[in-house]
Amino acid sequence: MAPEPVVSTVAIRTPYAARHLRIGLFGFGCVGQGLHGVLNRSAGLQVQVQQVVVKHRDKPRNAPAELFDYAPEAILANPAVDTVVELIDHAEEAWQIVQAALQAGKAAVTANKKMLAEHLREVVQLQEQTGSTLLYEASCAGSIPIIRNLEEYYDNDLIDLLQGILNGTCNYILSRMYDEGAEFGDVLADAQRLGFAESDPTLDVDGFDAKYKLVILTLHAFGVFLRPEQVLNVGIRGATAHDFQFAREKGFRLQLVATSQKVGDTGLATYVLPHLVPASNLLYNVSREYNGVIVRTAFAEQQFFQGKGAGGFPTASAVLADLSALTHHYRYEYKKVYQGTRLQPTHQVELPVYVRHTPDSPLLARLNLRDIQARHVSGGYAYTIGTVTLADLLPLQDELNTGESFVAVLG
Ligand code: HSE
Repeated sequence: MAPEPVVSTVAIRTPYAARHLRIGLFGFGCVGQGLHGVLNRSAGLQVQVQQVVVKHRDKPRNAPAELFDYAPEAILANPAVDTVVELIDHAEEAWQIVQAALQAGKAAVTANKKMLAEHLREVVQLQEQTGSTLLYEASCAGSIPIIRNLEEYYDNDLIDLLQGILNGTCNYILSRMYDEGAEFGDVLADAQRLGFAESDPTLDVDGFDAKYKLVILTLHAFGVFLRPEQVLNVGIRGATAHDFQFAREKGFRLQLVATSQKVGDTGLATYVLPHLVPASNLLYNVSREYNGVIVRTAFAEQQFFQGKGAGGFPTASAVLADLSALTHHYRYEYKKVYQGTRLQPTHQVELPVYVRHTPDSPLLARLNLRDIQARHVSGGYAYTIGTVTLADLLPLQDELNTGESFVAVLG
């Protein structure tokens, strides 16, 4: 006799029918192609790609030729398209596309963090005015489901820290320099070949990309609209063999970390800086193109997300999740904005730092470095460990991004 089935066969009724989406896709680069591949393998999703608009006619593309067009109107004025997926490189062109899509009553999905960070208030207002939906999970931390978690799961648990490795390219470069002693230029070229880096890799290397993502996540975590230029971004260009040697000897890893932290009851400090991360930190084991995000809240305490932060398929997986959410009529409510807490951006936060500099450099005085705990000079290598405030670092951002010296937060 056949055994009884373990699982009940009673059907679970869906409360409402999932929408069928008819998509117009802008861009067929690394993520666009990834999405095409992912959609072909996602049988359960009610999605049909109607049209793909690309810039260059002559590139070979591994999808049927009749899918492609070269005029944005082929999607934006096409009544058969109800959902626009924007995966192009250029932030301002992306913004034009997103505005036109929402104004035409279409839903939109984007991965463009620069565009979002620069237009965040307008993004929220436009959705309110038009009633159309814009989702952008793929814009932050690649495959990690962080925006929707901040919106929905951490709805009422008070967040006091959001901290993460948000740029896959920098983490890939730093991991390989630390583990293999590889050269910066060689590893950056590998990151470009693998499709992790931005077409202008300065955005990765100098911490701009991580900052754009931090600006977006800060809105969903704390309800605070920041302008990108309010947030310090110092990248990894200055990291030399001496700094990696220091990190190895002291048991740290060198990582580019983005932080949004409450200061007192009313302040919020946000910054992107290299860190010398101890093994006790959850970010320590995040390596190569992986990203990691720590969320610390009043009641759940510390929680940690990890996943691939760059690359065609991992990023496409987040676009896929947004499309799936659209089929269920999901939209962001920007709950923290409407919860009434008003945190004010502050630069009055103290950071323990390692500063590598040339001997007798005026940098230490200009940084107003104090509480000096260690000094070291041998040959051309000198470092000092002490404390700075974020306010003292801000005016030196461009100088620090030239790579002449190197600052990393200890912790
Ligand atoms: N250049 C970005 C990164 C791509 O390296 O993280 C994903 O946003």
